[in-house]
Amino acid sequence: METTNGAIAAGTHAPYTRVLGRSGIEVSGLGFGCWAIGGPWQGPDGSPLGWGKVDDEESVCAVRRALDLGVTFFDTADVYGTGHSERVLGRALGRRRADVVVATKWGNRFDEESKVLTGGDDSPAYVRRALTASLARLGTDYVDLYQLHLSDADPERAALLRDACEDLVREGLIRAYAWSTDDPGRAAVFAEGPHCAAVQHRCNILQDAPDMLVLCEKSELASINRSPLAMGLLTGKYVPGSTLASGDIRSAPPSWLSGFAAGGGADPHWLARVEAVRSVLTSRGRTLAQGALAWLWARSPRTVPIPGFRTVAQAEENAGALEFGPLAEEELAEIGRVLGF
Ligand SMILES: NC(=O)c1ccc[n+]([C@@H]2O[C@H](COP(=O)([O-])OP(=O)(O)OC[C@H]3O[C@@H](n4cnc5c(N)ncnc54)[C@H](OP(=O)(O)O)[C@@H]3O)[C@@H](O)[C@H]2O)c1
Repeated sequence: METTNGAIAAGTHAPYTRVLGRSGIEVSGLGFGCWAIGGPWQGPDGSPLGWGKVDDEESVCAVRRALDLGVTFFDTADVYGTGHSERVLGRALGRRRADVVVATKWGNRFDEESKVLTGGDDSPAYVRRALTASLARLGTDYVDLYQLHLSDADPERAALLRDACEDLVREGLIRAYAWSTDDPGRAAVFAEGPHCAAVQHRCNILQDAPDMLVLCEKSELASINRSPLAMGLLTGKYVPGSTLASGDIRSAPPSWLSGFAAGGGADPHWLARVEAVRSVLTSRGRTLAQGALAWLWARSPRTVPIPGFRTVAQAEENAGALEFGPLAEEELAEIGRVLGF
């Protein structure tokens, strides 16, 4: 049964699923990204690294609604909200933890009290310490997918971290691991480990990642897609002149964050590209956000988008994409023609 915003009612569909690379771990076709629900946190210079204020009760309800709608995959990181995201996710999952696949990340050091990121740590000794702390916050005794969060880490050092992850797999503390990086060369270093299941990287209609998708195919990795909605631009709610609240990372974007300008809101050129593909994405009853997720599924059989959320309504709409599955081949081709891929 479909509601007005394209969401689905619980129990009315067989959810669209995918497998996390060579691990064989099955997940719903999309995961829920838990960065925003971590709430506010800052860099050492006071710049916002979260998405501003959140309502924890709403976050818990959103996670539980997602579970009811067939979502079985959740992505967080120890540093999101300096531990808060992991705590909220653990609370929301409660006894249903065994029914889902939990991915978290390590590599950043932070102060939970002051909510400040204090730096990175690529030492093998820190992997185990960080994992122990994540397990306590999540309220679990294993992590399904453990991910290195230092996207530009030195590849030789990262090989040692990969080997440390193999030890953790042997001990039953994690089931598989991945690197969150946009560099296929770095992802290939992790792919050499037998229990490496995925790479997490940016991919969306406005920021394609063809080289990484080739690597995923060659190395049998899942392609876990961060920022699948281009940090909100692909939901259609931002218009030229929209601005973001202070405390939201998009209001003072760091150099790696594209599509939003400091103090200037959403980039009009990006918004124009969204408008150019709106009619294809929203065909057959999909909302714009659902169409953006459907594009990722059509792009490769290995993709698993992990859209962020902060409300029950967003959870319902995003989970509703599972009912539609991938774009049709001709829709994918039409998007390519319009955007010039
Ligand atoms: N380095 C890394 O490893 C890394 C980096 C980035 C992200 N990630 C992961 O990827 C996940 C997703 O990426 P992302 O958070 O960058 O961006 P995204 O998924 O592209 O955008 C998420 C944001 O869009 C808005 N939104 C979501 N669904 C919506 C809907 N149906 N209608 C209207 N607005 C909606 C929400 O923000 P507003 O309501 O505030 O607009 C939400 O926080 C993160 O949560 C995190 O788990 C990892």
